[in-house]
Amino acid sequence: MIIAIDGPAASGKGTLARRVADAMGYAYLDTGLLYRATGAKVLALGLDPSNDDAAITAAEKLVSGDLDGEELRSEEVGSAASKVAAIPKVRAVLLDFQRDLARTPPAGKRGAVLDGRDIGTVVCPEAPIKFYLTASVEERANRRFKQLQEKNPAAIYERVLKELEERDARDSARDVAPLKMASDAIHIDTDRLNADAVFNAVMAHIRTHM
Ligand code: C5P
Repeated sequence: MIIAIDGPAASGKGTLARRVADAMGYAYLDTGLLYRATGAKVLALGLDPSNDDAAITAAEKLVSGDLDGEELRSEEVGSAASKVAAIPKVRAVLLDFQRDLARTPPAGKRGAVLDGRDIGTVVCPEAPIKFYLTASVEERANRRFKQLQEKNPAAIYERVLKELEERDARDSARDVAPLKMASDAIHIDTDRLNADAVFNAVMAHIRTHM
């Protein structure tokens, strides 16, 4: 059993996916972390994340289990992630890894929840339950800014907004697996919904469709 949750950066996918996975006793895979780890590896070498060879080598190392302890949650790594994510061979290297995890969840788990940009369209188009979360870019920047401010009081809202806009544009415009709602996904606009309301709506849908 696979549940796919897609949407743009900071749309609340991660929080929702983790809660749904816990409630269902499923494994959770944050696929953005794979692109972030690939981007972080390239940055750690002082190379350009848009450089095909560097990004492909980093993705291959990652799927063969070479994990470093880099910080993955920063906006800088998010930007690098969206650059490596536009390279078709990087996506191909990470695709099988994601599918294997989704289709063969760890022992004791009856299914998997995956979140990302292309889970419902490319990674697991067969998933019987798909959600597509959106919120305005201002609302998403606001949420991300508040999170960042807890760690770094010098965070600047305008900068967070600009980075999200750039990332949205890159993720939507790329040729391979662009950010797009699957035709059979349920669309949830989270602008006026808090995390509990989104979770309750999603769980109600899952319960009636299982
Ligand atoms: O979800 P998160 O913001 O951590 O993802 C970081 C970047 O990784 C995204 O901006 C996107 O470019 C890329 N990504 C992707 N496909 C996925 C998940 C993430 O292209 N399934």
